[in-house]
Amino acid sequence: MQTNHISVLGAGLMGVGIATHFARFGHDVWLYDTDNNRIADIATVASGILDELIATDAFADTDKTTVLSRLHGTGSLEDLAISGLLIEAIPERIELKHALYAQLEALIAPEAVIASNTSGLPPDALAANLAHPERLLIAHFWHPPHFIPLVEIVPGTATKPEYLRELQQLLVSMQLEAVVLDRAAPGFVGNRLQFALLREALHIVKSGIASAEVVDQVMRASLGRRYAMVGPLEAADMTGLSTVQDICRHLLPELATGSDMMSLVAEKVARGDTGLRSGQGFYRWDDSRKEYIQQRREHQLRFALKP
Ligand SMILES: NC(=O)c1ccc[n+]([C@@H]2O[C@H](COP(=O)([O-])OP(=O)(O)OC[C@H]3O[C@@H](n4cnc5c(N)ncnc54)[C@H](O)[C@@H]3O)[C@@H](O)[C@H]2O)c1
Repeated sequence: MQTNHISVLGAGLMGVGIATHFARFGHDVWLYDTDNNRIADIATVASGILDELIATDAFADTDKTTVLSRLHGTGSLEDLAISGLLIEAIPERIELKHALYAQLEALIAPEAVIASNTSGLPPDALAANLAHPERLLIAHFWHPPHFIPLVEIVPGTATKPEYLRELQQLLVSMQLEAVVLDRAAPGFVGNRLQFALLREALHIVKSGIASAEVVDQVMRASLGRRYAMVGPLEAADMTGLSTVQDICRHLLPELATGSDMMSLVAEKVARGDTGLRSGQGFYRWDDSRKEYIQQRREHQLRFALKP
């Protein structure tokens, strides 16, 4: 995989975050978007990301201009023709992604790799119309990429295995935790774990065991800390697998299955209480709550990114 010319397609929330990360680690990045306003905003958005890193001592103020100078916004696909790695971060609509890939394949070299940042579209569906399906893989970055280091690299059935390893090496060299999955599955790994937990959290609230506030506090004060240190399977080993077996025997039958608990979410959505954006979800999102979360985020950033 050629990495001397790297492109990111889609200068939105994820695209600018991903491109800024590459730029911090010395790469020039061409950022393509069909919306000129997004292109015009790249420097401001990237600057905000770098300022957050500077405020938490994770990045030197003096490097900011250099990093910003490595981001090249463009509305012309021709500027990407010599890219060896193209990270696609346009909206989650398969027909849009297919149309863009068709335009790209007319321009780029046969060995250029397309890495989609899709949240969940299957790689084989993404690669369906490609002349070179072996070049398509998923690189699922998490938001925000300057704080959450995980990238799930997911192969399609036609993906060339060496592209997976090469991309992993590149991302690991940029302080990202890039993992390669053995095969694609809905939700990859991270979202499967996240939504299994969300299902149980909703079930606990719906069945009157504890309030949303208590569920969130339990998570932050216990598993949140533990899971930054060891994963669930490491934790199981440390507990002792025979103890885990004993606990599972009586606990697993009690845990949520199915989707009954989703009525809790459906009721809120029907009322227009969709969460932070509407100002009300499980919580009321007034300025003081937003400020409190921002403080916690800065606190976490300061410690998580400490070299
Ligand atoms: N937002 C998240 O937390 C998150 C996390 C992981 C993955 N993703 C995935 O990343 C992708 C992008 O999500 P986002 O949140 O950054 O979206 P976004 O809406 O913020 O950005 C998408 C950008 O793509 C541009 N665009 C639209 N059509 C285009 C085209 N044909 N060519 C080039 N640019 C085009 C838009 O102008 C916009 O700037 C999606 O597939 C999404 O599922 C999102």
